[in-house]
Amino acid sequence: MSDTLEAQVGAVLSRIKNPRLDSDLMSAGMVRDLQVAGDGRVAFTFLLGRSDPATLVRETRTALKALSGVTDVKITVVDPSGPAQSTHAPPTGAPMPQSTGMPQPPSPAEYSNLGRVIAISSGKGGVGKSTVAVNLAVALARDGKRVGIMDADIYGPNVPRMFGIFDKPAVVGGRIQPLVAHGVKLMSIGFLVERDAAAIWRGPIIMKVLQQFLRDVEWGELDYFLVDMPPGTGDAQLSLVQSAQVSGAVIVTTPQEMAVGDALRGAKMFEKVNVPVYGVVENMAGFTDPATGQRFEFFSSGGGQRLATELGVPLLGQIPLQPGLAEQADQGLPVVLSAPDSPAGVALGAMTRAVVREAGARSMSLPIINQ
Ligand SMILES: Nc1ncnc2c1ncn2[C@@H]1O[C@H](COP(=O)(O)OP(=O)(O)OP(=O)(O)O)[C@@H](O)[C@H]1O
Ligand SMILES: [Mg+2]
Repeated sequence: MSDTLEAQVGAVLSRIKNPRLDSDLMSAGMVRDLQVAGDGRVAFTFLLGRSDPATLVRETRTALKALSGVTDVKITVVDPSGPAQSTHAPPTGAPMPQSTGMPQPPSPAEYSNLGRVIAISSGKGGVGKSTVAVNLAVALARDGKRVGIMDADIYGPNVPRMFGIFDKPAVVGGRIQPLVAHGVKLMSIGFLVERDAAAIWRGPIIMKVLQQFLRDVEWGELDYFLVDMPPGTGDAQLSLVQSAQVSGAVIVTTPQEMAVGDALRGAKMFEKVNVPVYGVVENMAGFTDPATGQRFEFFSSGGGQRLATELGVPLLGQIPLQPGLAEQADQGLPVVLSAPDSPAGVALGAMTRAVVREAGARSMSLPIINQ
């Protein structure tokens, strides 16, 4: 334990103002379970209300990291009005090792072997999250990257069907071996339990399943770890951000107004927990007649750009609706492999390059988040 360092950490936290409350983080009671270990690791729970600026977390992390002697800063962001968190907090300044036997609030672990952890999400079902995730994975692997994909959809896993793989994973030395297809390592609840068996599972089990996938699957060393999220902003999203340090999120939407509103809520959820949104992908963005190359727009259009503008992030791609794509996908052949030169194949290839560019740019400008 280093008293001096602890005092310095306390002083930094007392200097940072929450503009909404006109008071500092310590006096506002926004810091809980502060722990400063002798080796310089700092950890605490950050109570960030819905109307507090999410940038406060980043600001705090930067300020703490700037202290000499601080080797690591672990911040667990909790919405005080959200689901109940640990009420058995150790006293402020308690030593880091779990010597108290008290339950700790969940704090996202860093799995440095996974490389960049990217969540593919949306607020709404059926907009093409899995299509985007699977094609992104395959395109990255084709470019020589080491890629894993985790299907976080417990109730309706899409990954097995989209890769055409339905085998049971092997367990070697207590570690689950991922399946491999098109050069991508895969894990999905669909490989492990019978169809519909997971339908009765609730939040805590989802958390356990995702944590097991992160921890107990032999992923090896990866460059990209993609997470195919279920629709909505519910348990799986919360479980993921509490279980692993997510580098960024890609938000998928369709061009319609309604879908954009859902996607916006989905994106805000990531921003709130300090996960940068890399950008927006608009899927089913009109239809290109394969015979004539003529393009048709349905209903309203431009929703992807509107959402991107609203979030202040780039539009990473516009994937046209393409006849035959679903049938091929159902046979385990992602379009970037089966028809790379088709309009959707080309658009997904361009999207992949945009994601890589954005992920690289973000980790340069925000090394603290994407460390
Ligand atoms: N651009 C496209 N052109 C044609 N079909 C598409 C396109 N994108 C997705 N699809 C098809 O639409 C269906 C829904 O897509 P997908 O499963 O990727 O959506 P999702 O957002 O993952 O859905 P869920 O919320 O159920 O997980 C699939 O059958 C898929 O093959
Ligand atoms: Mg899906």
